[in-house]
Amino acid sequence: MAASDFKPVVIGFLCNWCCYAGADLAGVSRFQYPSHLRVIRQMCSGRVDIEFVMRSFLQGADGVFVGGCHLGDCHYNPEGNYDALGNALIGKRILEHIGIRPERLRIEWVSAGEGTRFAETQNEIHATMMALGPLGEAEGQPVAALREAVQAVINMVPYLKLVERERFRLPHRSEENYHKLHADPEFNAIFTSMVLDKITQSRIMGRLRAEESLQAEDLATGLQLTPAEVMRHFDILAERGMLRLDGRLARHLPIATAA
Ligand code: FES
Repeated sequence: MAASDFKPVVIGFLCNWCCYAGADLAGVSRFQYPSHLRVIRQMCSGRVDIEFVMRSFLQGADGVFVGGCHLGDCHYNPEGNYDALGNALIGKRILEHIGIRPERLRIEWVSAGEGTRFAETQNEIHATMMALGPLGEAEGQPVAALREAVQAVINMVPYLKLVERERFRLPHRSEENYHKLHADPEFNAIFTSMVLDKITQSRIMGRLRAEESLQAEDLATGLQLTPAEVMRHFDILAERGMLRLDGRLARHLPIATAA
């Protein structure tokens, strides 16, 4: 697609009380911003979980925007927007892991009185989208392959929600603490084994269900891993009785015979 023909689509999940009202103010004030945004109003940004983000990409979005009240101003528990922040940080890392540029997901805090800030944010998002191009272009991967990876993440959403709530929520919630958490090597090791490895294994099982048997080398390129990394996941899955290994060839085991 020629760059001049590209019209990005960004799904915007806006909190009713702040960002949606900020968008409304931008409109009535006639502030100018491009028309990429498709707004879905939420009562709180904390309602936007990883599934919403992934389904947006699955259904053709080039980007996702989450807009909430400023931290400390959430109208609910009163930390709904900290849930949104935690989900967005996790969501960005998952996107990066499956080969989607994390800049395609953006979270911002916009109050009801910040129409200018809303319009400026949308101008920035539009510039980012134009630089990245349609989904798949900056990633250098076919959209179908990215969507297959997104579907594997969606399949794991109940597990991801549980892990986020039980293991990744901070007792003392602040933006700084969330960023510190995601920069911590110990946390990153846990995050990799509890989230990123599980997603890779879900993708492997998805491919194996479709193909019945696969060589480590066949999977490596598609998953952007080395054959040795694929073998590591094969070993884990074989240990759990989810596949049978024959050298470097993995065979799918139907559930009935896996016990
Ligand atoms: Fe706006 Fe919770 S009510 S982010």
